[in-house]
Amino acid sequence: MKKLVAPSVLAADFANLQRDVEMINDSQADWFHIDIMDGVFVPNISFGMPVLKAITKHAKKTIDTHLMIVDPDRYIKTFADLGTNILTVHYEACTHLHRTIQSIHANGMKAGVALNPHTPIAVLEDIITELDMVCLMSVNPGFGGQSFIENTYKKISQLKNLIDYSNASTLIEIDGGVTDKNANKLIEVGADVLVAGSFVFNSENPTETIANLKAIIN
Ligand code: DX5
Ligand code: ZN
Repeated sequence: MKKLVAPSVLAADFANLQRDVEMINDSQADWFHIDIMDGVFVPNISFGMPVLKAITKHAKKTIDTHLMIVDPDRYIKTFADLGTNILTVHYEACTHLHRTIQSIHANGMKAGVALNPHTPIAVLEDIITELDMVCLMSVNPGFGGQSFIENTYKKISQLKNLIDYSNASTLIEIDGGVTDKNANKLIEVGADVLVAGSFVFNSENPTETIANLKAIIN
């Protein structure tokens, strides 16, 4: 399977949101990565439903929504109605994760689970076959532009082993601090999808930066 790049809209210019959404549409990017933060699960608030609605109005690619919120069950239907294709919830925010995953599927979306940097892969042993994606946080969630945590490589290998051992077809997504320096190694150890925010949007030519990332990983 081709390896995927998902630019994080968190790093876009919100005063020129349509321009940046069209840039992603016209680029080699595969998905839109949408970061929803509630100021409770993470120490930051990003944006909410009206902004996501504005994004999905113009976006022509898969919408990959990453919920960094407590009690995400309350909003599963809302995010489905807003056009989300893959909905990722945090392991650390879900008391009844199995039920949450079932509810995401029942609402017609693919289901992902994100793990904070300190959360071991082993907590996914009894749920991995239900998951379309696992998002490994390679920074502490809440902010763009942080540096990549090196321990992530080890976790990717462990997750890859768990997926293979369980005969699952779960995708591995890496979120945080992704650049052209670590992209190749991330793919080599087993990643399928790379989220990139500031590396894409702070570059001089985001379209070219996305094309370069795609070339590096495929
Ligand atoms: C962090 C978010 C990320 C963020 C990544 O909490 O989940 O998706 O946008 O940004 P960079 O690529 O700048 O680390
Ligand atoms: Zn994210």
